[in-house]
Amino acid sequence: MPRRTSKEKQINREDYPRKEQFKAESGMFDERTVKYLGYLMTHGIVSELSFQIARGKEADIYVAMPGTHVHDDVVVVKIFRIETSHFMKRIDYIYGDPRFSKIKRNIHSVVSEWCKKEYGNLKLAADAKVHAPLPYYFDGNVLAMQFIGVDGVPAQNLKAGGTDSPEKTLDSVIEDLRRLYQKAGLVHADVSEYNILMKGDTPYLIDFGQAVVLGHPKAQQFLERDVRNLLTFFQKEYGVKRDSKKVLAHITEQ
Ligand SMILES: Nc1ncnc2c1ncn2[C@@H]1O[C@H](COP(=O)(O)OP(=O)(O)O)[C@@H](O)[C@H]1O
Ligand SMILES: [Mg+2]
Repeated sequence: MPRRTSKEKQINREDYPRKEQFKAESGMFDERTVKYLGYLMTHGIVSELSFQIARGKEADIYVAMPGTHVHDDVVVVKIFRIETSHFMKRIDYIYGDPRFSKIKRNIHSVVSEWCKKEYGNLKLAADAKVHAPLPYYFDGNVLAMQFIGVDGVPAQNLKAGGTDSPEKTLDSVIEDLRRLYQKAGLVHADVSEYNILMKGDTPYLIDFGQAVVLGHPKAQQFLERDVRNLLTFFQKEYGVKRDSKKVLAHITEQ
């Protein structure tokens, strides 16, 4: 039975909790973050940070007004938290990847490599025409990307907003995973109902920090887990049944 879609529950700017709102000058960022936010502005990516829209596992997500180089109504700025030790646990995703063999093992380097990795992965996804935010810029622990939403209202994730056409939504995500694998040479490695945003009827994949290249020793294992998580959600929530072996073969075979 299809669930209520996000269309019925539109969020207003006024609905955001006041304490989530901030001004860049309020001193809530550490010195390095302020420096990297400054670069976003001098590079014409962002003119002003507006408000926080989410607090993720390892990053805070803000909506910002675009700078002169971005032709869109708003921009998303993902600021990775330095203080989190979470990253040290996820070091596996970086060290098994031949692209990141030379980085130093301190928290600032790991966080900025993670941010750079998410930027690079988003770029590969965009080139492969996967539904995912276009990356605009990164430096240090700060990443700017395309806003997924309508009229300044961020798209809800699949868990919160649901979909009216589960079969179509699932097919679209599977096609994106196939393009990601075949054209970008990547496995997302954190596919879940929380990392899929529904912009109208179109699902978008987000959160590419942990995505790995196919040469990563755990790439196949991560892909199997992605497919399992995806199919389990659609089976439980919507009663949609798919054969995971067939889906995996569709994603990986030419
Ligand atoms: N490009 C975007 N457009 C709109 N909302 C976004 C975008 N990127 C992230 N978000 C929101 O921020 C939340 C956390 O982002 P995510 O990249 O998943 O961070 P984390 O790695 O901390 O989980 C998402 O669930 C989503 O609600
Ligand atoms: Mg996430």
